[in-house]
Amino acid sequence: MDSLSSSFFPTLSPSYSAVSQPPSPPWSSLPPSSPFRIRSIRIEEKPKTIATTTKRDGQDQTKNPTPSLNIEKHVTSSIVKNDQSLPATILNAFDNIINDFIDPPLRHSIDPRRVLSNNFSPVNELPPTDCEISEGALPSCLNGVYFRNGPNPQFLPRGPYHLFDGDGMLHAIRISKGKATLCSRYVKTYKYNIEREAGFPIVLNVFSGFNGLTASVARMAVTAGRFLAGQLDPSKGNGPANTSLAFFGNKLYALGETDLPYAIKLAPDGDIITIGRHDFDGRLSLSMTAHPKIDPITKETFGFSCSPIPPFLKFFHFNENGEKQPDVPIFTMTSPTSFLHDFAITKNYAIFSEIQIMMSPMAMIGGGSLFSVDSKRVPRVGVIPRYAKNELEMKWFEVPGWNTVHSINAWEEDDGDTVVMVATNILLVDHLLEKMDFIHVLLEKMTINLKTGIVSRQPLSTQNLELPAINPAFIAVKNRYIYCGVGDPMPKISGVVKLDVSLSEVGQEECVVACRMFGPGCFGGEPFFVANEPENPDADEDDGYVVSYVHNENTGDSRFVVMDAKSPTLKIVCEVKLPRRVPYGFHGLFVKESDINKL
Ligand SMILES: [Fe+2]
Repeated sequence: MDSLSSSFFPTLSPSYSAVSQPPSPPWSSLPPSSPFRIRSIRIEEKPKTIATTTKRDGQDQTKNPTPSLNIEKHVTSSIVKNDQSLPATILNAFDNIINDFIDPPLRHSIDPRRVLSNNFSPVNELPPTDCEISEGALPSCLNGVYFRNGPNPQFLPRGPYHLFDGDGMLHAIRISKGKATLCSRYVKTYKYNIEREAGFPIVLNVFSGFNGLTASVARMAVTAGRFLAGQLDPSKGNGPANTSLAFFGNKLYALGETDLPYAIKLAPDGDIITIGRHDFDGRLSLSMTAHPKIDPITKETFGFSCSPIPPFLKFFHFNENGEKQPDVPIFTMTSPTSFLHDFAITKNYAIFSEIQIMMSPMAMIGGGSLFSVDSKRVPRVGVIPRYAKNELEMKWFEVPGWNTVHSINAWEEDDGDTVVMVATNILLVDHLLEKMDFIHVLLEKMTINLKTGIVSRQPLSTQNLELPAINPAFIAVKNRYIYCGVGDPMPKISGVVKLDVSLSEVGQEECVVACRMFGPGCFGGEPFFVANEPENPDADEDDGYVVSYVHNENTGDSRFVVMDAKSPTLKIVCEVKLPRRVPYGFHGLFVKESDINKL
């Protein structure tokens, strides 16, 4: 187990404590006869983030933080099973050799000392814990639970680790009658469970790649050995479910695009419970997008799966009861490797983007990165009727320079002859995975004339914006307002802006109409919009609140922030002081209490 402990990994200060073992029961209470024992305890060092600055675009910009060692004593422990099998012992020894002697130096993007620095470092689970309302009052419409998903590795990684690799942890703030409780729990995936049971990592990190040919071959051999030894069964899942959540068919799911959804429910006391991996009565195999789209009128949910073998893309939907309908295989998606993270729907169509970011499992097995950029490829956008039985009516449109990751919304105009989509578009896409702080993400409006094939694009802002959100009641219909995180630099989010898309129709180039920056050293995440009157069809689109977790890196404190979406300053109407920090993460979801009660 020593090999899998944090032996090289700088230990974090109490406010940045990391997880290297199952969270309960407390180690100090373990009886001598426990199957677990403390194998080693280390007093290590915390990576202190030193912000350096560099001139870019004429302004001072925070550069990629460089971890250095700041001696803050903190104890971590490594836990192993006494009855660890001989095959496990041998395979773990091989894993040690790979990490200690075979791995070439880790690139910054996959060096856990950098990737997990500051508030990207993981936390332990937290049972439901009361929160203090530190400012204002919680609006009455916030009666339910705000969940935020994100990576939180169960074991401190010793080898290559990418931000996208960590085990999914849900941070849920339950709000009822003006009071709030916070609960943080891992999504109990197959990966999480077998590793927790074993006491060491078993499933390889995919997004980081395998770090060179020799290390890759060695890692594949160890994984094959673990499979033969019965330590893992890939058919039962291998994803971390760390990306997002969705509520449909009266079920709540934690999602990650490399695996099936995991059903989640909430205990009466606000605790998060993983029900299990969900294959929809055997109708969904292997994986599903982390960004399904739910039509607020029909209550249908649309989604897709990607595959390394033809058909590379399968499109499908669930009826209003959450029952999956047959796949529509898309054979005209000609490449198995285009990274497809998100899509959009209108009343009649679904829209997919085939971009220059490539996924190559074979390159990864050969020791390279899973992701690469094919600058010679011309990106395409495919439009298919959303109730199509096959792809015969699908049309593809070439769109040079289109490298979207998040599709925000889409709708139809001109009696259905034109499709409009708003989405993020990555500039300097080569840097997406290796130097994420260098990328610039534009919000763009794309207009596709389905009859003439003419595609036009219009930036909605010059700012570096990601993690977009809209009022969910406007999915698939024309909407006016978008809320976005401000990258400063990516993946850190230093504030929230509100954009008015209608300004683009009168030729205005900058559509940002409201802004809230979190302050020096303070960073948030995806803004999520919660309507003030979700059942009122006549309510203004922006009548509601924008919520997000915000972390202060100067104090180590986190808070839940509620902003008035109508305010030109996105005025903070309530702040909840959280009992424990919430690491930076990915996507969130607000589930109202009446829906929570259906789980
Ligand atoms: Fe996403």
